[in-house]
Amino acid sequence: MSKFFKKCNRYYRFGEPTIAKAQGYYPYFHPISGEQNPVVIMDEKKETIMCGSNNYLGMTSHPKVKKAAKEAIDEYGVGSTGSRLLNGTMEIHIELEERLAKFVGTEDCVVYSTGMQANLGTLSALLSEKDEWVVSDQCNHASIIDGIRLGKNDSENKKIYKHNDMEDFEKCIKEVPKGKALIVSDGVFSMEGAIAKLDTIVDLAEEREAGVYVDDAHAVGVIGPYGKGTAAHFDLLDRVDVTMGTFSKTFATVGGYIAANKKICNWLRHKARSFIFSASPPPATCATVIAILDLIENDESYKNRLTEIGDKMRNGLSDMGYDTGPSETPIVPLIIGGVKKTLSFFMDLYKHKPVGIFTNPVMAPATQEGRELVRTSYMATMTDDVLDQALEIFEKVGRKTKII
Ligand SMILES: Cc1ncc(COP(=O)(O)O)c(C=O)c1O
Repeated sequence: MSKFFKKCNRYYRFGEPTIAKAQGYYPYFHPISGEQNPVVIMDEKKETIMCGSNNYLGMTSHPKVKKAAKEAIDEYGVGSTGSRLLNGTMEIHIELEERLAKFVGTEDCVVYSTGMQANLGTLSALLSEKDEWVVSDQCNHASIIDGIRLGKNDSENKKIYKHNDMEDFEKCIKEVPKGKALIVSDGVFSMEGAIAKLDTIVDLAEEREAGVYVDDAHAVGVIGPYGKGTAAHFDLLDRVDVTMGTFSKTFATVGGYIAANKKICNWLRHKARSFIFSASPPPATCATVIAILDLIENDESYKNRLTEIGDKMRNGLSDMGYDTGPSETPIVPLIIGGVKKTLSFFMDLYKHKPVGIFTNPVMAPATQEGRELVRTSYMATMTDDVLDQALEIFEKVGRKTKII
């Protein structure tokens, strides 16, 4: 092996994953057999309650959605084999963009192959001039952070405000030149489940003539009327400039989108490198999202059930004594603090017998150091019996480990 790869060699033999595996608390890459349902079969063929999925509306196995994906393969084949700009635009991509724009409530929409690519390509394309600024929440997703890094604006022209802290936000936005800034925030924060204070953000944005960009990856399907997301939740649809979303959560597949006006979308179609230099999503992906839109567009029952479940679990867990942070959504963190303590709590839940619970342990940089947590999240298709069983296990393991 070339000397160049020495670091990989060393990491393989002595890195944290090797130590964690040897000590039995490595939390990653545990395979699931079969579908992503409320109860899944995981390692050792054990029944495991899935409290760590982003399949918010449980659509990955909805019969109508599966049927639509299969039919799209029959009609269009399995892939597009090209960029949207060239041979990769099929009629179903256009149909999907029109349907998403209508759902979100914007003039136009651009579909990307992943949500990560949507943020990377859009932010780097929008931050295109040296004297432009970005104002971003401290807890924004990694794809936002990296998209900002790829911008052509001066790398110093960046203000990061304290998480959801509107006093700090106001200070930051007032320090940047009027008319020159793009404000970026997650709509629902992915790790602790708080909702961005978008009403304050847009008021100050208008005062400072700044653009507003909201990442609704965890908000679409989850908050707002019919799950239309954060702007709809605050009734601010016409005051948000750019809404980003992903297909990897509520929309049960993979891909991403940007919903905005025609001029912004036209800019992105010709400037966003991750859109231009990457193949478009396969037809079955587009059909999956269209089928889910058919189901949720005029039926709020999925979103309402998800909200009910989120409330039940948040209240149940916090009544037991867990610190559930600022959660207001079906993302309910259990804040533990300390890497080892968090990993071993995750493992105790996972290994619980006869039924385990799968959650997501979260460490820096995905959360602030000292605020390590076990992220729990829920899906609309979970029954009360399953949720009660999960609460019982959370209580038993929490008491045994003295976390509660
Ligand atoms: C807030 C947020 N934005 C963007 C993304 C990226 O989405 P995708 O999984 O489609 O790449 C994620 C996914 O984890 C996310 O949580």
